[in-house]
Amino acid sequence: MCHRVCPFSEEREEMFTGVHCVAYLSPAGTTRRVAERIVRALQQQGIDPFVLDLACRNKQFYAQGESCCLWLGSPVYVDHALPQVQRFIRGLPEGESFYAVPYVTWGAVCSGVALPEMTQELQSRRWRTVAAAKVLGQHSSLWRSAEPLAAGHPNEEDLLLIDQLVAGTLEKLKQADVVPLAEQTLHYLPGDQEQQSWQKSLAKAIALQSPHQPDHQRCIRCGGCLLSCPVGALVWRDDYPHVEENCIRCHQCTRICPQKAYPYDADAVEARIRGFAAASREEKCTQIFL
Ligand SMILES: Cc1cc2nc3c(=O)[nH]c(=O)nc-3n(C[C@H](O)[C@H](O)[C@H](O)COP(=O)(O)O)c2cc1C
Repeated sequence: MCHRVCPFSEEREEMFTGVHCVAYLSPAGTTRRVAERIVRALQQQGIDPFVLDLACRNKQFYAQGESCCLWLGSPVYVDHALPQVQRFIRGLPEGESFYAVPYVTWGAVCSGVALPEMTQELQSRRWRTVAAAKVLGQHSSLWRSAEPLAAGHPNEEDLLLIDQLVAGTLEKLKQADVVPLAEQTLHYLPGDQEQQSWQKSLAKAIALQSPHQPDHQRCIRCGGCLLSCPVGALVWRDDYPHVEENCIRCHQCTRICPQKAYPYDADAVEARIRGFAAASREEKCTQIFL
């Protein structure tokens, strides 16, 4: 039996034939670092996982055989998992003995409902969440800040917890009866804060922001921003880069642009984020759930 899932394109280049797949979307690189640690920990146990960067449009995921385990990483954006990651889950084949370990990286503001949301989506495809993690990572909107939130994270201490996550998950998967995480485990935010998180969304936040397009007076049409976009939201239009609707405001284009053609009010962004971080009662630490 071979089920095909393709995040973006119809092209097929590599095929998942093993039991473990580590998939992630990581605009600024932190979620990828955690994925790399998961891969290393699996390899130390003699497992060679299939690795899927969801930003690569020429790779596909096949869940093959009787059973498999998907390690799936997303950064938290406005208290949720990235829409592209959720869409990837919705495209998964329905599984009987398919297991998942969702993990998120978050910038010390609020991890929100990203994990329960990913778990619910996985469950709707009958993938059972056996473990999960939320990993602190330097806030990727604050790259111009002298002191970004969660600077230096994930550090070695955080990554040692990832080693524990892998070891604990493999132990669980060895059991004849694999016990999924209890439903309430991932509802760790205080009631009203979780409620507020469910009401937030990246789309609503973007609707309040000014349009994100390059300034044609500054742009030299080098095309670097198109290559930097992890979700394929940039296209050429009338000879200039144009940001499409599916932009997630990761600002990789802003960061890479040698001409500073993309407007970015770093001070205003920082003030807003620090306000949200101060209002959140969530403990700013990495946590694993087994
Ligand atoms: C548009 C945007 C929204 C974000 N929203 C949140 C958030 O709601 N809570 C939080 O703690 N961090 C938030 N972050 C920070 C990222 O979740 C964090 O830095 C993450 O580790 C980035 O992962 P990456 O390096 O793999 O892209 C946000 C970052 C961006 C760019």
